Order: sequence, then structure tokens, then C-alpha cells
Amino acid sequence: MPSAGGSLLTIRPGRPLAGSFTPPGDKSITHRAYLMGWLARGETVVEGVNPGADCRATLAAAAALGAQVAVAPGGVRIVGCEGHPREAEGVLDCGNSGTTLRLLAGPLAALAGVSVLTGDASLRRRPVARIVEPLRRMGAQLWARDGDRLPPLVIRGAALSPLDLTLTVASAQVASCVLLAGMFATGVTTVALPGPARDHTERMLPAFGVPVRLGPARAGPPGGRTVSLTGPAHPVATRVRVPGDFSAAAFFLAAAAATPGSVVTARDVDLNPTRTGLLGVLERMGAQVERTHVREEGGEPVGDVTVTGPDRLKPCDIEAAQVPALVDEVPAWVVAATAARGRSRLCGAQELRVKESDRLAVLAAGLAGLGVAVEELPDGLVVTGGRVGGGRVAAADDHRIAMAFAVLAGRADGPVTVSGAAGIRTSYPGFAATLAALGGEVEGAGVEVGP
Ligand code: S3P
Repeated sequence: MPSAGGSLLTIRPGRPLAGSFTPPGDKSITHRAYLMGWLARGETVVEGVNPGADCRATLAAAAALGAQVAVAPGGVRIVGCEGHPREAEGVLDCGNSGTTLRLLAGPLAALAGVSVLTGDASLRRRPVARIVEPLRRMGAQLWARDGDRLPPLVIRGAALSPLDLTLTVASAQVASCVLLAGMFATGVTTVALPGPARDHTERMLPAFGVPVRLGPARAGPPGGRTVSLTGPAHPVATRVRVPGDFSAAAFFLAAAAATPGSVVTARDVDLNPTRTGLLGVLERMGAQVERTHVREEGGEPVGDVTVTGPDRLKPCDIEAAQVPALVDEVPAWVVAATAARGRSRLCGAQELRVKESDRLAVLAAGLAGLGVAVEELPDGLVVTGGRVGGGRVAAADDHRIAMAFAVLAGRADGPVTVSGAAGIRTSYPGFAATLAALGGEVEGAGVEVGP
């Protein structure tokens, strides 16, 4: 858990970031590989895993639920439970990780036994009704705090019926939860997504021998889709090579866009179009974005991305339909927006209020504290570019906010101290070291932020 003592990161303004780096393994893909490895028959090997606390929570849960897990130099080895999870002896602690809690709940809805899932103070404020309702319709019994809205979540599994679900929010976590539950039901489970939420689950299931059918969207903005699978499905172990995490790379790429003359390359990063909406936005703002060595690995597009900061960055609006493809990159986008010549407006992003923090509120408060002109909207932000002052800014233990403020600090007028930065360990333990390697002037306990 983040502790006050280890949570301060101080950054001094310096020269533009420059150079190349390899981000940690993708967090979303690592979670899915661990969960599929847990359910599969045989030994799955996951290489290039995300080393953060979130994915370690998923791996610990898999072990508590009957997988045999070994963390070896060549990768994480998981001998699966062949579709028969063991009832955990204790409470499953998902830490800060919404993906752990929501995806695990799917298979646990089919487990003949009781599971209790909880997490840290942040996770216990995040909504679970969105998974409680569909899993009940499939036949499981679930209870949650505060009128079935918030964790802890208690699940008593049952023989599941398949479900045809049309989501109102383009949430990959909810879709993945229901698809993983659908593997245990007899018949076809279908999830319709109203927007371009990340599709790693659909890409990974076939690698474990579980076919999925993709269909057109039922309604909503462009980029939606339907995904179906037929249960009972029997996943078979495989080898997964996890590409670099675009969401981790995004902070340095946005910082490059925000600084004239800065050139930064992220290597071997996942370029799945459901994740890289930020790149199109940075291009619209006038940054130069170049993708090289693009290839397909394990069903995901992977490559290097270089962003070059232009002399003048243009402001840019982000509409609701674009939000799912950059839902985790809004804090990084804000860094670019503060450097643009004019007002940038984000709307349709109310989901950000139920992430690891209320990101709209925490970003707005932090930016205002550093002297940036910002307006908080019910569903977004209006940011006017200009100078950034030094001072102290609170990241509210939210890893993505802490990383955004840390790279923003590089172009501030004076030193910036980010408090509540220990949350960075949930997704990017090596963040401060990478920032320093690219030329950032990083000091303080934050350099040691790690697992
Ligand atoms: C994730 C989905 C997104 C994202 C989260 C990871 C995933 O959440 O914000 O960080 O791995 O499925 P939602 O599905 O709630 O939008």
C-alpha cells in the first residue's frame, strides 16, 4: 500500500526529454494471460509480464484459486486448474486493481463455493453493480456493500446460463467478466459493446483454444462490436509474449509532444488501435508521430513509436466517442493540453470519476494548484495552455495522475513535488528510473517507488 514516507516524487525543470525506452509489459494483457493460465489445462508461460502490484494481485489470486504459479527468469509459469478452480481459503485481496476484481468475478460466478473479493480504499470506492447485475442474470448469487454497489464483493457460484448482454458503457472489464463467465455456461454468450473498448480478451481467447465470433455493433458511436463465445469452453495452456504497455509509455510520449525539440521513442509497445487513441490526438495537435518496426505478436500489433514535439502545439477537443480508445490516457493528454496555444476541451469522460481516483477532480485540482487555467466539467475538463508553476501537487495515490504530474513538472517554472506517488508501483515500478534515463531531474523517495 502507498505510504506517505515513500510517496513523494520531486522533479526539477530541465532540458527536454530525449531518447528511447522500453515500457513494462502491458498490464491489461498480463492480467488476462494470468487468468487464462489459471483456467487452462497444462502449463502456460507468460513472458514480459507487467511487474506492478496490480498484476501481482491477479497472480496471487490465481494461486489461491488452484493454479500452481512459479515466477522464473524466463517468465511466469502457471499450471492451470483445468476449468475447476479451488475455493480460496481466504479473502481475495485485489489491492488497487479494478481489472483483477472485475475479471476474476466472471469465472468465480461458476465456482461451486464462496469467494470474497476486496481491495484497498480506492478499490472499495469503485462500482461493482455493473458486474453484479449480469452475473446474477447468468445464475450466480452476489452481494456487495452499499446496496450491491461497492466492494467487498461476495460471490456464491452456480451452474451458469449463457447471456446476451448489451452494455451501455463501453467497458472492457465488464465485457471480459461476462465472456469469462460465459466459458462456463452451456450455450452462446454474447456481449455488445457500444464503443471501441480494448479487445485484448477477444484476441487472447483463441490463443488458448477458445474461438470467439465478432459481429457488428448494435448501436452507439463507431467502434462498437459484438463478441460471442460458446460454452462450455476448455482453454488449453499456451505461451504468451506480453508487449510493452502503451498506457505506461503514454506519459513520456505526451511529454515529448508538449516540449519543442523533444524526441522520445517507446520500443516494443502494444499498438492495438483500441488503446492508441492518444496518438491520433497528439497528431491533431501538431506533434509528429512515427510508428516503426510494426509487426504482429501473439495476436496484438506491436512496434516502436516516436513522438517529436513541434514548435507550436495546437489545442484539441476530445468527444465522447473517442474516450474509450484513450480512457487511461487522459492524464497524459492533459500534459499536452497544458502546452497547447489555446483551450482544449474533453467531454463524455464521466467514467474517469470512477477510476483509481476521481480523475477529473484530481487533475483539475492539481493543475489549478500549479497555476494552469482549468475548468472541471461534469463529464470532462477544459484546459488552457500556458505556463506551469512549481509547487506541491497531490496525486491521490492514483498511479496515472502521479506519472502525469511528474512529466508535466519537467516544463514547470520551478521544482514540483508530487505527493501520493507511491501508487506508481501498481503499474510502472521503474517509472522514475525511466524518467531519469530520458533526462528528467528526479529526486526523492519516489526514485525508489517500486514493488
Ligand atoms: C481495463 C479496462 C478499462 C481501463 C482499465 C483496464 C482492462 O476499464 O480503464 O485501466 O484491462 O480491461 P473499463 O473497462 O472500466 O473502461
